[in-house]
Amino acid sequence: MESVTLYEVGPRDGLQNEPETVTTETKLALIGRLRASGLRRIEVTSFVSPKWIPQLADADALCSALPDDEEARFSALVPNEAGYERFRAARLPVAAFFVSASETHNRKNVNRGIAEHLERFQPVAQRAQAEGIRLRAYVSTVCGCPYEGGVPVGAVIALVERLLTLGADEISLGDTIGVGHPRQVRELIAAVAAVAPLEQIALHLHDTWGRALANVQAGFEAGIRTFDASLGGLGGCPYAPGASGNVATEDLVDLFDRAGIATGVDLDALVDASAWLETDVLARPLPGRVYRARLGERRRTRERKAS
Ligand code: HMG
Ligand code: MG
Repeated sequence: MESVTLYEVGPRDGLQNEPETVTTETKLALIGRLRASGLRRIEVTSFVSPKWIPQLADADALCSALPDDEEARFSALVPNEAGYERFRAARLPVAAFFVSASETHNRKNVNRGIAEHLERFQPVAQRAQAEGIRLRAYVSTVCGCPYEGGVPVGAVIALVERLLTLGADEISLGDTIGVGHPRQVRELIAAVAAVAPLEQIALHLHDTWGRALANVQAGFEAGIRTFDASLGGLGGCPYAPGASGNVATEDLVDLFDRAGIATGVDLDALVDASAWLETDVLARPLPGRVYRARLGERRRTRERKAS
């Protein structure tokens, strides 16, 4: 049976953008629920500046309380050397670096131009390689920038090549503000395929324009097999105005289930986790469509049984 890998970013990309800071205990409960659904690759937090992202300021405490879990591959964002020191103390196996394909977004996001950000990260990448740490790297704004508009494919390709040279094991192409469309995704993947093996490429799609799922389908048809997603469609980037959440994990599980493509993830367990997050934690509705549809289906079944 054909299969895809889902990479869950809800605890990081989702919670970094919540107005309220969620407690460490609740984050651990969320990660536990995600694991129980069958997800193995989970981005649990960020070792960024707590001044910039106060919602994830508890990254060190969170990681020290994570359960030993041989089957899981937990990861965290690491922007620089200070972040890498904290990451190493947390003993996670995967560091996730990030850089934008557009200069202005990169400056807004990490306070540095692209060239300087990469230069500073180079010794960190070397250390990661020497220390047996897997390196994931995001290229953000691949389909458009909130400040500059269109982003040339050539800028993305140049970064993919540079990140491979830095030793990235996996590169996740981020449509940070969810403006991409299937034709653009197909063209982008075709260009990336000329410089990188597609087994090393993931897609990280936000759903601002409602096209993330169509873009996943286009990406799958173009040969991508790893997709980032967040529970219930939670999330966004605080330094990308107007960016809404990632494609919902439930939507991907449902799409691939129906196509007979294995994800290893249980849809009902995800729906239960989203319902818990929505009702007991955030007290606001989550946008995920399959999640909402499944809740409606459950309610109608209950009503039918009761009548
Ligand atoms: P900076 O202020 O330029 O840092 O921030 P600095 O190097 O000048 O240092 C200033 C102070 O911050 C120093 O402390 C450092 O020690 C401290 P002081 O001496 O003043 O007491 N510091 C740190 N503390 C903790 N952890 C660190 C760290 N680094 C420096 N890692 C920095 C530069 C990169 C840190 C900052 O801009 C930052 O944290 N940015 C992160 C922004 C962010 O997390 N954005 C969202 C994630 S990216 C995203 O969502 C996109 C993605 O989902 C893909 C997509 O959708 O496309 C991945
Ligand atoms: Mg993102």
